[in-house]
Amino acid sequence: MNLVVVSNRVARASSNEPMTGGLAAALLPVVEKSGAIWVGSSGRVRDGAQREPFAEIEQLGAGALAMLDLPAAHYGGYYEGFANSALWPALHSRADLIRVSQDDYRSYREVNSFMARALLRFRKPDTAFWIQDYHFLALGAELRALGVTQPIGFFLHTPWASPATMGCVPHNRELVEAMLAYDLIGFQTEEDRSNFLAYGKAELGFAIADGVVTTPYGTSRCEVFPIGIDADLFAQQAQKATAHPDVSRLRKSLNGEKLVIGVDRLDYSKGLINRVNAFDRMLTMRPSLQRTVSLLQIATPSRGTIEAYGNLQGELAKLVSDVNGRLGEADWTPIRYLNKGFRQGVLAGLYRTAQVGLVTPLQDGMNLVAKEYVAAQNPIDPGVLVLSKFAGAANELDTALLVNPHDVEGMARAIATALSMPLTERRLRWEAMMAKLRRGSVQSWFADFVASLEDAHTANSDAAGA
Ligand code: G6P
Repeated sequence: MNLVVVSNRVARASSNEPMTGGLAAALLPVVEKSGAIWVGSSGRVRDGAQREPFAEIEQLGAGALAMLDLPAAHYGGYYEGFANSALWPALHSRADLIRVSQDDYRSYREVNSFMARALLRFRKPDTAFWIQDYHFLALGAELRALGVTQPIGFFLHTPWASPATMGCVPHNRELVEAMLAYDLIGFQTEEDRSNFLAYGKAELGFAIADGVVTTPYGTSRCEVFPIGIDADLFAQQAQKATAHPDVSRLRKSLNGEKLVIGVDRLDYSKGLINRVNAFDRMLTMRPSLQRTVSLLQIATPSRGTIEAYGNLQGELAKLVSDVNGRLGEADWTPIRYLNKGFRQGVLAGLYRTAQVGLVTPLQDGMNLVAKEYVAAQNPIDPGVLVLSKFAGAANELDTALLVNPHDVEGMARAIATALSMPLTERRLRWEAMMAKLRRGSVQSWFADFVASLEDAHTANSDAAGA
């Protein structure tokens, strides 16, 4: 079987740039090994792209990476508009942040249909298509409309919110109808899957048996495939990274202080304001901890042209400077706050240096930072993960200190507990998490989805022929 993987953002193996976002970083090593063709946006736009799709193609392991220039007239409405100002906020249960126009929806559909036409050049008789994430909900339907009969699967990296919230997305019914062109729809968690099915039952009258949805619009199998990481490889990287100059300088600068680390895209779903407030609250509740610990918060700028993101950046910078101004000393800065990305080889070392990892999103599909923080720890003296129960990762990493990110005081107590946790307890919790990470690797995620896609397609074709 020839596999074509499609996502809006792709990653180049050759690039030395830090990667934004879990999806591209997670896919790179597996797609590279699989020999698939990975198709996505080049990040550039082009007038007339619709008439003549332009792709820059480079080798990617045994396969290839094809980066397409998207149509200039529709890119903004598609990416900043419908994908990130309607779907993203709704999927993360923030319907209050939806800001879109009818033109944005049109552009979203145009880019989906442009991508479908561009994909035809990669199609062979035994090709299967695997579409990633909310940018391309309607791509399967566009491919079917062009006569594609091969297997087409879809995986959602984000949560799927409650039926009421998803009902706030303009054109929600049309989009979910379009999704039924997929043979297989994959979710990160059981909760996401059941939210999707509940929406479908209420809005489109889904008939559901054994995870298979049958409707007049199509038949799709819905399953859960929690994405993982290559934990042992990440552990090796972390060990190596301790010698990296950026990491050893950080260690020296700590002067015996403990370190708490947070690494996120600067996104309202990540709960950064509550997190900083919790760290502040901890230092205020327990003054004896002042000067003994600092928080390194890396918040990589993301989607900065969208108002909600610009506002958050301003609010967070003000909050951090307020805490530092109020609690800091000439020789101690409570929060080290950085607005830039780091390469994975360095990040792994930063995680290993920190006694506590803070991953406290308000909503998150999986959150691979949580998994990477665990994998990066020194087995002899592991750090403690403080994890939001609203991150998909909490289903597996249930021996982390689980917190409610809306409860600032509870989070403050959890960080203090993490900082003073005895070694035996840290080890027990860490070993249980590491064992789970080893079982659910990114390789098995990839292989399981592809196997299930073939199955689902065969079952759908049989049912159609019957
Ligand atoms: C999340 C999404 C990905 C996206 C990433 C980075 O992980 O699920 O699809 O690529 O964020 O966001 P960006 O808009 O920079 O691609």
